[in-house]
Amino acid sequence: MDATHGNAPAPPDAPDGVPAVPVTGRTRLVGIIGDPVAHSRSPVMHNAAFRALGLDFAYVPFHVRPDALEAAVRGLAALGVAGFNVTVPHKERIVPLLDGLGPAAEVVGAVNTVVVEDGRLIGHNTDGEGFSKALHETHRFKAERSRALVLGAGGAARAVCDQLAREGIPAIRICNRTDAKAAALADHLRRHHPNCDIKPLPWTPLDHRAAINWAELIVNATSVGLDPADASPLDTNGISPGHIVVDLIYEPPETDLLRRCTALRARCLNGLGMLLHQGAAAFTLWTGKAAPIDVMRRALEGP
Ligand code: ATR
Repeated sequence: MDATHGNAPAPPDAPDGVPAVPVTGRTRLVGIIGDPVAHSRSPVMHNAAFRALGLDFAYVPFHVRPDALEAAVRGLAALGVAGFNVTVPHKERIVPLLDGLGPAAEVVGAVNTVVVEDGRLIGHNTDGEGFSKALHETHRFKAERSRALVLGAGGAARAVCDQLAREGIPAIRICNRTDAKAAALADHLRRHHPNCDIKPLPWTPLDHRAAINWAELIVNATSVGLDPADASPLDTNGISPGHIVVDLIYEPPETDLLRRCTALRARCLNGLGMLLHQGAAAFTLWTGKAAPIDVMRRALEGP
């Protein structure tokens, strides 16, 4: 028997001030699958947004280990969730388990958002869009008049490069510790974006220096900096106030790269804005509504 009552008292707010999410018989479920997942800020961000718009949705974390990915995905579809986010280490491995892909997910080969439509699982990648929105919002960045140096050749780098090419950036240089991966990514992206001059660069201080002088936009899409003790992956000699430097890392909020570039008066941005805007894009895919950006930003930033 359903034990809910018509006039049940509103659930108490959590001690951190985040409003609790009421669950009804009609609540649509969304969530995030990852391993680990406990650190994720997405539940707080999305639940705040659902509350703000009065939407009967709830967002929960699912700790899914790699060997349980397929069962988890089938289970989520069978349960009729509206969709879910996908994080490390499942973003690429989930692709063959889905029924279709959006255009960015197709090129990037990784999915961060799944929408369940009539039992069909459609994978999207909103990371590139999130990156772009964050960059435009803070620095009035014009892709068609810039050149970019991207450090890294993993999933995050792929999403950023694909987005920049979609927005008409004329040239990108990809620099990765493992040269072969930078070359493979450049080849792959050139096939999808023939008008963009995309080339790999060797991972040497000399090449870094030359690329710094050539580029206006510099993006760290490596994982170097996640450990607060990590030194900058880039020799920052040559960074000037004319540069925009983005580190996709948001925890810690200021990596050694950003600290150095801020001291050199470059325009700097960490990954929090990208996290916010990739989430906002996922919110719209699931609900069909514009995301309450300021509510989500406040929830991400915490009390
Ligand atoms: P993500 O999905 O976040 O992009 P990923 O696919 O694991 O994560 O990619 C991590 C990136 O960080 C890679 O470009 C990796 O370089 P390699 O291809 O050479 O592995 C880069 N990276 C990780 N540790 C690094 C280090 N100590 N120095 C330089 N680059 C590093």
